[in-house]
Amino acid sequence: MLIKEFRGVDFVNREKEIQFFLNYFKQKPERVMWVYGPKSTGKTTLIEYIIENYLLEDKHYNIKYINFRRVLISSFDNFIDSILEEQDDEIQTELNRNYNFFGLFRLEAKTLKKIKENKKNLFNYLLEEFRKEKGKNIFIIDEIQSLQDIYINGNKKLLSEFLNFCVALTKETHLSHVLILTSNTIFLNEIYNNAKMKVTSDFELIDHLTYEDIKEWLISRNLGFSLEDIDLIYDYLGGSVAHIKKLIDYRFRYNSLKDQLEEMLKIAENEILFTFREARKLDKDYLIDGLKNIIKDIIKQGYSDRDSKKDEEAIDFFCEKEILFFDPVKNITIANNRIYEKAFERIL
Ligand SMILES: Nc1ncnc2c1ncn2[C@@H]1O[C@H](COP(=O)(O)OP(=O)(O)O)[C@@H](O)[C@H]1O
Ligand SMILES: [Mg+2]
Repeated sequence: MLIKEFRGVDFVNREKEIQFFLNYFKQKPERVMWVYGPKSTGKTTLIEYIIENYLLEDKHYNIKYINFRRVLISSFDNFIDSILEEQDDEIQTELNRNYNFFGLFRLEAKTLKKIKENKKNLFNYLLEEFRKEKGKNIFIIDEIQSLQDIYINGNKKLLSEFLNFCVALTKETHLSHVLILTSNTIFLNEIYNNAKMKVTSDFELIDHLTYEDIKEWLISRNLGFSLEDIDLIYDYLGGSVAHIKKLIDYRFRYNSLKDQLEEMLKIAENEILFTFREARKLDKDYLIDGLKNIIKDIIKQGYSDRDSKKDEEAIDFFCEKEILFFDPVKNITIANNRIYEKAFERIL
């Protein structure tokens, strides 16, 4: 059965990906694993599904998971508070559990104080904590780009220190698997082009669902969609679960499926046009022309492999706006999701 339930809502397929990660965790940690892909393909959901359904119940594993989207990181102190907690701080623990943080590091108040005062190195302390664990360690970090622009006491970059620590955990000491999730392609590209990180990393793409997945899901939901309807939905929304969920939730408001899909398309088109306005405000109209060239490739062959300096600026700008998605491993640019691809045809 491909359709399961997770937190009271449908969870579609991902069998292949689940097996991949379960096998991966059985191996010895050698490199940092980057789990990447367009926005809303289901990276966070997949990893949380694996944690809750497979890893937590297996006593061999010791899971530490943190999603930086769910905590506000504006300083090194905040960062420390988000991953460490005082030993006798039960309230904090309960709160963290509710927010799906697992197994944070618990330490005595005096050690915490020393770390905050920079008298004790945080990452050395964490490494020792990983070393103490008896089981197989898995350390998972979501939305890591939140650590950009944060400095440790005004000089060292937190992100570089953190990534060095991740390399130490994997390649150097083999103490823990490290999974890092991100949709931010500019950020990922930097990592991919950083010689040190590239050889010490693995990259795994989590893409939108397939036509077969969507078809099975929609049929199983008994929503009254004919096969032609399903084809029409896939033509407009592709395998984007987030869009299809929205379609289902608002279905009752529309007389026809076509009307609803057309309205969703119009909204997508407006989102793109809005980013054009932002480019113009910056006096960077050439970015719009750059995007149009990329769009032509995408309409013709599904992706663009342009990589001149000028194209790159447009790619970066529209990736930042989450219209495009750049895959550094394949070195191609695609639309972030199918409805944008469809909207591109109207914009040209
Ligand atoms: N396999 C799936 N089946 C059903 N819904 C899913 C699946 N994966 C993700 N979703 C839903 O899609 C939305 C986006 O998922 P999320 O995990 O936040 O994406 P990402 O982390 O890649 O940006 C969420 O509402 C989530 O519940
Ligand atoms: Mg996510």
